[in-house]
Amino acid sequence: MDAQATTKPAVLILLGPPGAGKGTQARMLEQRFGLIQLSTGDLLRAAVAAGTPAGLAAKAVMEAGGLVSDEIVLAILKDRMAQPDVKAGVILDGFPRTAGQAAALDGLLAEAGQGVTAAISLEVDDAAMIARVAGRFTCADCGEGYHDEFKLPVEAGTCDKCGGTAFKRRADDTAETARARLEAYHAQTAPLIAHYRGLGVLETVDAMDSIAAVASELGSIVTRVSA
Ligand code: AP5
Repeated sequence: MDAQATTKPAVLILLGPPGAGKGTQARMLEQRFGLIQLSTGDLLRAAVAAGTPAGLAAKAVMEAGGLVSDEIVLAILKDRMAQPDVKAGVILDGFPRTAGQAAALDGLLAEAGQGVTAAISLEVDDAAMIARVAGRFTCADCGEGYHDEFKLPVEAGTCDKCGGTAFKRRADDTAETARARLEAYHAQTAPLIAHYRGLGVLETVDAMDSIAAVASELGSIVTRVSA
């Protein structure tokens, strides 16, 4: 729990295209540093599964690979940020994704006398991203992530983390939708890299490396920026 020694709760942002490894790495950082992973993708998928008004509005956009409106995403994120566990510090996975979301986050943090601790850009080739997304599957019970080629369960058919035997694949993990998500990333999210560089909090990581190597580099960054 390296981050327990910090004075202010860390606010870490993982930026990167679909398949960059944001979810994989956020879960590892959560375990290592006791931070809370906040994935707007997971929150939106939960809203879709629950059939809430926000979920019903988001479903078709997500299936097409577009970005859900800032209004819906910000409402969902603010609800989650109001829960007490986030005081441990957060890893924002997949948020912000637009200039409007970044401005809203800056405002929300400023109200609390805080700022972004670090925005970490996971850099990956577009072609690799398609392969990563197309091979991805998760444990249906605990959500642990796997990949047909890069990360199989140690015992075939059994989740390493919880022992579950049911696995699922995301509806938006087709090659066609992945291309649309990649376009949305380049058009609307990649410009945020300059925003965080301007704030002096940008870190970049070569996410083409192995999962373990990326985790090691991220761990060094989190330790440094939390000191
Ligand atoms: P979201 O769930 O955020 O999906 P995404 O950004 O497209 O990211 P992914 O989950 O696909 O990839 P990841 O970077 O987490 O990679 P992972 O670790 O799984 O969003 C889904 C949709 O919701 C969006 O399209 C949008 O519609 C909507 N949405 C969400 N947030 C929004 C927002 N803020 N505003 C508007 N709309 C929003 O890794 C992928 C695979 O690769 C895994 O199988 C993994 O095992 C493997 N892998 C990971 N790292 C490595 C590595 N280093 N080497 C080899 N394999 C690796």
